[in-house]
Amino acid sequence: MPDPQLVLAARVQDALSAAFGPSYADADPVIRPSQFADLQANVALPLAKKLGRKPRDVADEIVKHLDVAGVVSDVQVSGPGFINLTLSDAWIAGEAQRALEDARLGVPATGAPQKVVVEYSSPNVAKEMHVGHLRTTIVGDAIARILDFLGHDVVRDNHVGDWGTPFGMLIEHLLDLGEDAAARGDSSVSDLTAFYQAARTKFDGDEGFADRSRRRVVALQAGDPETLRLWNVLVDVSKKYFNSVYGLLGVTLTDDDIKGESFYNDLLAPTVQELEDKGIAVISDGALCAFPPGFTGREGEPLPVIIRKSDGGYNYSTTDLATIRYRVDTQHIDRMIYVVGAPQSLHFQMVFAVARMAGWLNDDVRADHAQIGNVLGTDGKILRTRAGGTVKLAELLEEAVERAGTVFDEIQHDEPFDDATRAEIVQDVGVGAVKYADLSVARDSEYVFDLDRMISFNGKTGPYLQYAAARIRSIFRKGGLAPDEATGPITLTDPAERALALQLLGFGAVLEQAGETAEPHKLATYVYSVADAYTTFYENCPVLKAPDEATKASRLALCAVTLRTLTTGLHLLGVPTPERM
Ligand code: ARG
Repeated sequence: MPDPQLVLAARVQDALSAAFGPSYADADPVIRPSQFADLQANVALPLAKKLGRKPRDVADEIVKHLDVAGVVSDVQVSGPGFINLTLSDAWIAGEAQRALEDARLGVPATGAPQKVVVEYSSPNVAKEMHVGHLRTTIVGDAIARILDFLGHDVVRDNHVGDWGTPFGMLIEHLLDLGEDAAARGDSSVSDLTAFYQAARTKFDGDEGFADRSRRRVVALQAGDPETLRLWNVLVDVSKKYFNSVYGLLGVTLTDDDIKGESFYNDLLAPTVQELEDKGIAVISDGALCAFPPGFTGREGEPLPVIIRKSDGGYNYSTTDLATIRYRVDTQHIDRMIYVVGAPQSLHFQMVFAVARMAGWLNDDVRADHAQIGNVLGTDGKILRTRAGGTVKLAELLEEAVERAGTVFDEIQHDEPFDDATRAEIVQDVGVGAVKYADLSVARDSEYVFDLDRMISFNGKTGPYLQYAAARIRSIFRKGGLAPDEATGPITLTDPAERALALQLLGFGAVLEQAGETAEPHKLATYVYSVADAYTTFYENCPVLKAPDEATKASRLALCAVTLRTLTTGLHLLGVPTPERM
């Protein structure tokens, strides 16, 4: 479905090159939404300066060469030289009809598919997922879904923290509790926070335990089979737990997507070797370091990326470098998107810089840190429990579902629901509310976690959008036909019909932008504007009681395209849409 803005941009560029020569074929036509028409081309103003002519004359000259027959019904030059463009009703209707008849709503699959790693969620083994992981999980999943839909080859990658020194004490603590405690699902093991803290306390207070733990780390890194087996027991307990959260959230990650830090263990030494061979890694203060250009400390001294510590151990950065190398050399990735908290920004900038020095990243292989902002409590500080602890994700979601139940029972329903159906819907509403609220703010911005605001059927919320979709479905049920039985033809007479159709035509361009910048909030905002335009349409244009059959058929078709745009858009955000509400 061509976005009107893109269609007109191309036409204005044609006019520019016809009027002023082929060198203007790529000039930005500066197309903007306008108060006075659908769109405005403002290129005449900057161009006039360049050409030393009056902007109005330049605008007239462009219009003289502008071929927009069939797309635009009215062209006006106004003010100092704005070109106002009013799209033709028939063109809009025709494009909406095309969307209706196309399984992809007229959104073409990309002509330049890329192999993209979307790395997201990445919780730590033997630790509870907290609200920080909520965002990396939800936002990452939406990015993966959007790129998938656009036709890219998406590799979902859950870079779990499953390696490193803490595993010595965790394994020893497991042995102390008895391995069968894990098999039984005993809470001393399955309550990950308590398990981790108990191990930590012993490590800090018991010299003998600390000694055993340190020896255990060495055995783990040396690949001792019995130690690896025990390590696996811990990993499995955590995986089960991650999957329960992913199931609750409706996230597309599976065990097959896990490539934890441990996966890269054998690749660390060769990665370091390559960096040494290329002269990038040098010894400094006993540690092996790389100094990427442009990174300096307070005194202007070059900042190191430590690649091998002075005790010979590798670290977080080494693993990330080995990961990039693997993705490039073995997976042949074109683009890597790291959906990780904003505080790790400097780490990624420096790691990417070293990877560019090594030639792993270059103009053809791109890495983006899709930064994630903090989630705040209503007091404006990082969200914590009343006792000051980290908020557990699962508890947060349970509370959301419970509140959704209360709000759901307060609104009007077309029909009564049995308990099981009600429970399913309320689950979708509670989880959908949290997800939509998270996705509707720019991912690098902080936001306040406020369940009351999220779970409202009014405003820019998940429940409002779910309800909008359910209402359209209910029209079809009352009309006695399925949404895909609406065939149009779409004609536009009422301004609210036209405004809705125009809004629907923007879907493809929004997806393209959201995928390009890895910013799902663009899609979240768009879906809301569609529902908004639909509400105005619904208030002004009776559908089942339309004045005549042709109008009814057209309006039902508009309802069908709206419904599919809403459900597809929300699905790509990972927000479920219940059939009935
Ligand atoms: N496990 C880390 C955490 O929970 C996030 C890992 C991010 N990814 C990476 N490639 N470093 O903070």
